[in-house]
Amino acid sequence: MAKMWAGRTDGITNKLADDFNSSISVDSRMFREDIQGSIAHSAMLGACGIIKQTEAENIIDTLCDILEDIESGKLEISKSAEDIHMFIEEVLTERIGDIGKKLHTARSRNDQVALDFRLYLGNETDIISDKLKALIGETINKAEEYKTAVMPGYTHLQRAQPITFSHHLLAYAMMFLRDIERLADCKKRICVSPIGSCALAGTTYPTDRHMEAEKLGFDSICQNSIDGVSDRDFAVEFLSAMAQIMMHLSRFSEEIVLWSSWEFKFVELSDAFTTGSSIMPQKKNPDMAELVRGKTGRVYGDLIALLTTLKGLPLAYNKDMQEDKESVFDALDTVKACLDVFCGMISEMKANTENMLNAAKTGFINATDLADYIVGKGIPFRTAYKISGEIVAYCIKNDFVLETLPLDTYKKYGDFFADDVYSAIDLQNCVKRRISEGGTGIQSVEKQIEWVKDKI
Ligand code: ARG
Repeated sequence: MAKMWAGRTDGITNKLADDFNSSISVDSRMFREDIQGSIAHSAMLGACGIIKQTEAENIIDTLCDILEDIESGKLEISKSAEDIHMFIEEVLTERIGDIGKKLHTARSRNDQVALDFRLYLGNETDIISDKLKALIGETINKAEEYKTAVMPGYTHLQRAQPITFSHHLLAYAMMFLRDIERLADCKKRICVSPIGSCALAGTTYPTDRHMEAEKLGFDSICQNSIDGVSDRDFAVEFLSAMAQIMMHLSRFSEEIVLWSSWEFKFVELSDAFTTGSSIMPQKKNPDMAELVRGKTGRVYGDLIALLTTLKGLPLAYNKDMQEDKESVFDALDTVKACLDVFCGMISEMKANTENMLNAAKTGFINATDLADYIVGKGIPFRTAYKISGEIVAYCIKNDFVLETLPLDTYKKYGDFFADDVYSAIDLQNCVKRRISEGGTGIQSVEKQIEWVKDKI
């Protein structure tokens, strides 16, 4: 069958070229947005007297029917259509003939596809933000549950200083909050209306782009019609936001993989979010966390794919740009699935607080507190640091930890050492005393929990 755009050519394409050119398998998911855009366009054409009011109403009613029919399954989106825009328009003209053919006045598929894509991503930013909020909620629940659980905090993956598990979890809540902010910021640039840019140069019809944008819930329009059809920055920004979400999830996943290993045993994942091995009966594998970590690679790939597609593209629309949706849809589907599974996994995760505390008791993570204690006796920090280091070296050599080293031995390093050294290096006290804002002290952690709750 000849294409709707037959004219300059006979519109009969080679089957291979047809399949290669078609984007329906990717863009059919934008049917709602395409219809929503066309309804607004038709209303604007009617209001501006470009087509008759009665014609506009007829088109709008029929578009509403088409939407209903697709949603109910009565109308199947044809896999042989070129894209979702052509499919909807074809059905419209099938149903109301020549009047349907008037819908495409004062627009082009170039501004139409840009609009549909923006409408679709605008909605997705809200859906993904809600999923992030749910994950933050679960993270906060765990933070509240483990407010006093002491564990080693790490730098270079070496035991560094005592922290609470709650404090550590809250660090992730902060990252997810920024992810939400990033999406909200990106949404400002997504929700700008390109429609009316037409093919690239604007149009000779007396259109009202602002009215059309308003009907779509956008409060501004693309100011330059060439930019309107060429711009995919919003999609790159969106993908970059997706990549950062995955980067955060991947770091969290890595820790969960480590923490649930026999070497750490800091957390126990629920059976529902782990898998067994086909050969090793003892195994309980953190597959969900590993998959999230693994899928981070593909989302980064999606971002790089779009950046590379756009690189060097001359203005305005080029068919290369049809490739934009596949990367973006893959990324957002992946991110949504990862957020859902991650949220469930966190909600059922249990901490082994005893193991955390035991790990905190070795590794001399209170050595900084010992140095601070010495400073409290009037010694300059650098000197105190050196004394503390020497004591640690002695302990390692003679199989002590700071808590078990006799006071007599301490005194060899300075006559200021007294019984109060033991409470100064007590792990719970070390945590309690970290009162600085944002620190690991209980009050500070409680404040952070409230702060996050307030934000969501
Ligand atoms: N399916 C196309 C896309 O996704 C629609 C735009 C087609 N425009 C054109 N001039 N061929 O980009």
